[in-house]
Amino acid sequence: MSKVDVVIGCFYGDEGKGKVIDYLAADADVAVRATGGDNAGHTIKAGGVKYAMHLIPSGILSGHTTGIIGNGVVLNPKILLEEIANLKSHGYDVERYLKISDKAHVILPYHPMLDAALEGRRTKKIGTTGKGIGPSYCDKYERSGLRMEDLYAAGFAQKLKEAVESKKALLKFYGMAEEEFGDSLDFDGLYGLYCGYAEKLKPYVCDTLTYLHKALERDERVVVEGAQATLLDIDFGSYPFVTSSNPTIGGILTGTGLSALDIGNVYGVIKAYSSRVGEGPYVTELLDATGDKIRELGHEYGTTTGRPRRCGWLDLVALKYAKRVNGLTALAVNHLDTIGRFEKIRMCVAYDLDGTVTEDFSTNLELLDRAKPVYREFAGDFGDLSGCRKFEELPLAAREYIGFIEEYTGIPVKFIGTGAERESMLVRD
Ligand code: GDP
Ligand code: IMO
Ligand code: MG
Repeated sequence: MSKVDVVIGCFYGDEGKGKVIDYLAADADVAVRATGGDNAGHTIKAGGVKYAMHLIPSGILSGHTTGIIGNGVVLNPKILLEEIANLKSHGYDVERYLKISDKAHVILPYHPMLDAALEGRRTKKIGTTGKGIGPSYCDKYERSGLRMEDLYAAGFAQKLKEAVESKKALLKFYGMAEEEFGDSLDFDGLYGLYCGYAEKLKPYVCDTLTYLHKALERDERVVVEGAQATLLDIDFGSYPFVTSSNPTIGGILTGTGLSALDIGNVYGVIKAYSSRVGEGPYVTELLDATGDKIRELGHEYGTTTGRPRRCGWLDLVALKYAKRVNGLTALAVNHLDTIGRFEKIRMCVAYDLDGTVTEDFSTNLELLDRAKPVYREFAGDFGDLSGCRKFEELPLAAREYIGFIEEYTGIPVKFIGTGAERESMLVRD
C-alpha cells in the first residue's frame, strides 16, 4: 500500500512549503490541501512564471497531479474561480485535475466583514489576513456554516436566509448600523451570487474522502499540502496570535479523512532564517539592520497581503517543538542561498528565562516575552550556490550549518533550497 507524504510548516508560515510540494508533486498522483483558506499564499516559480497559490493545491502545477481541496478547508468561491481562470490561462486542464470536497465550508462576504469588525475591536490586534478565516471557522464549529454540498441542496435558500439574519443581529450587537451592511448581507443578492458560483463549481465537487482512499487502494502517491504552520496552530501556536485551524498533523487527518495509518513521511519545512507576518511573540526577531537585510535579500513580503514580514535568525528551540507536535521524519531547509550572503550567521539553541536556560519551547505568552535567545554563531559567506547539484558540492560552511540543524534536532535534512526557482533544490537520499 502506498503511504502519504505530508508537508508541514514549522514556524509562522511562508517557509516555502509550495516549493517543496511542487517538487514532490512531480512523482505524485494526488495533492490535497487539508486546512486554512485563501489566507495561505504559496509561491512557485516554474518555467519563468510565478504562481501565487491560495486555495488550489500547488501540486496541480505538475500538470499531471490531481489537486484536492479537502473538507477542512474554508473556501471563498470568488477567489477560487479567479485562481481557476488564472491556471486555465496558463494552459492547465483544471476541469480534469481539480476536486473540491462537498464538506468544505464556504466563505461568504460577511465573513471578511466580521473579520475586520472583530479585528477593529481588539486592543491587541492579531493582524489577520482579513480573509474571513476566523469567522468562517466559528460558523463551522457553531454548526451554522454552509458547506459546499449545501449550495446544491433544496434547503439552501432557507439556510442562507437564517445565516444572513443571524449575522445581521451579530453586527448590530457589535454596534454596526443596518445602513452599513451593504451587499454583504443582502439575502437576494447573495442567493443569486452563490447560486452562480455553485453552478460554476459543480463539476469539481465530490466526496473527496472516498476519492483519496480509492487512490491509495490503487497504490497512487498522495501528498498533503500543509498551509500556515505549527506556531500558527489554534492549539499549539502562540494563541491568540494564531490562525483558526490546526495546520499541524492532527488537522492533516481531520481535514482530509486520511487515517494515521496512511501517513508515511512527514516533511517539516523551514527557512535557514525565520519570518513572521502579523502580530504575536517572536523570540528571534531582529528589529535592526540585520533583520532588514534578511527581509530585502529574502524578498520577505507577504504572498497574500503584501505586508513586510518580520525577520530573524533560525530558532532551533521552536523547531524541536515542531518535531514533537508533528512527528517530523525529515526537514526541508529553504533559502540557504539567502542566509549564505551573511558573513556570520546565528542560530538560537536555547532560551534564557531570567537565568534559567531551557531548550523546551512553550506557547505561554508571558514566558515567550521573557525568553532571550541564546545564539550559536556559524561561518557564512557561502558564495554562489546555483551550480551545486549535490549536498557534497556545497561549501564546507554550508554543510556545517545544515549538519548542526540535524545534530540538534535529530531530524535528517532531505531538501535544501538554493533559490526560488523550481530547479533550485538539492535532494538527499
Ligand atoms: P509558503 O507559504 O510556505 O509556500 O511560502 P511562500 O511562498 O509564502 O514564501 C516563500 C518565499 O520564498 C517565496 O517567495 C518563494 O519563491 C521563496 N523561496 C522558496 N524557497 C527558496 C529558496 O531556497 N531560496 C530563495 N531565494 N527563495 C526561496
Ligand atoms: P502560508 O500557508 C503566514 C497569519 C496572519 C495572522 C494570523 C491569523 O502562506 O504559510 P488569519 O487570516 O489566518 O486569521 O490570520 O495568521 N497567517 C499566515 N502567516 N503565512 C500564512 O499562510 C498565513 N496564514 C495566516 O498573518 O498573523
Ligand atoms: Mg505563504
